[in-house]
Amino acid sequence: ADSCFSDFYRVLCQTEYIDIIACGTAFHAGLCAKEAIERLARIPCEVTVASEYRYRDPIVKENTLCIAVSQSGETADTVEAVKLLKERGARIIAVTNCGFSSVTRMADVVLPVCAHAEICVAATKSYIGQLAALYMLANRLRPHEAKRELLNAAAGISDVLKERQKAVSFADMCAGSRAVFFLGRGSDYGAAVEASLKLKEVSYIFSDAYPAGELKHGTLALIDESTLSVFIICESTVAEKCVNALEQVLSRKGKAVVVTCLDDVEERLCGKAEVWRIPAAPPALTPMLSAVALQLLAYYTAVKLGKDPDKPRNLAKSVTVE
Ligand code: M6R
Repeated sequence: ADSCFSDFYRVLCQTEYIDIIACGTAFHAGLCAKEAIERLARIPCEVTVASEYRYRDPIVKENTLCIAVSQSGETADTVEAVKLLKERGARIIAVTNCGFSSVTRMADVVLPVCAHAEICVAATKSYIGQLAALYMLANRLRPHEAKRELLNAAAGISDVLKERQKAVSFADMCAGSRAVFFLGRGSDYGAAVEASLKLKEVSYIFSDAYPAGELKHGTLALIDESTLSVFIICESTVAEKCVNALEQVLSRKGKAVVVTCLDDVEERLCGKAEVWRIPAAPPALTPMLSAVALQLLAYYTAVKLGKDPDKPRNLAKSVTVE
């Protein structure tokens, strides 16, 4: 990976704009990466679903870098969108779990995710690997520091796994709910959309995700005692605003649970909602930890409902046709 990073630094030094292109879970990794890249590398970054991008007539500015995120490297929409960006002069970095693929063949640099083969349809370890690779990428000016932070985050993931009993009790609440909403702000929003996809994909419970500030612009109308709202609150600058939104849910008799790494959130809630404390991490890395907690939630909910989480109905591991 070191040689790949030095190639990457060369490319990134000339980069003025970044377009992240991906589908599904890889797109959600891109949403978290945008937060990290803009925060740490200070390069403007857009994230677009590949199936939308490929049918646009995009303005690709000079010195644009396309980051194509794809576990398989064979997703048809991602391949076509990357082709378009390449034709219009963008340089391409492929963030992928498969060394040789249609996407890697078009790439100037390949950043391997190294998550090993992922057999189950639901992307889980490849998503965590994508977040880690994209975090390294965002940290181009301090790679050694970033490596240390990633190692700490890996230790934090082990701690989350030890607390899996929390996921079992949250799963009871999920399984008995008519709908589950995931809410967060900043990089917690990226974590929320992925958590929502994972839950609906393996449990077939209706689920959606919103930036927590959007709650009062419509979704609040759906909240009642039959819904569960899962708040992810790891962004300290907007934590208080998320707690306010949570109180709105509780006052409509909605059920709510919280995943947080912040001391004051637990204190402020004073037992009004169940809390899963996860280890602290730098803000751009907390989605790696909350994601594992929420993958466990999806897993135990599916198991509780008698569904096979490895083989969701109607879905294929790799979507190679439109
Ligand atoms: O192979 P890719 O990363 O390009 O696949 C993209 C999506 O099809 C994929 O992430 C899908 O959303 C997941 N299997 C969901 O868990």
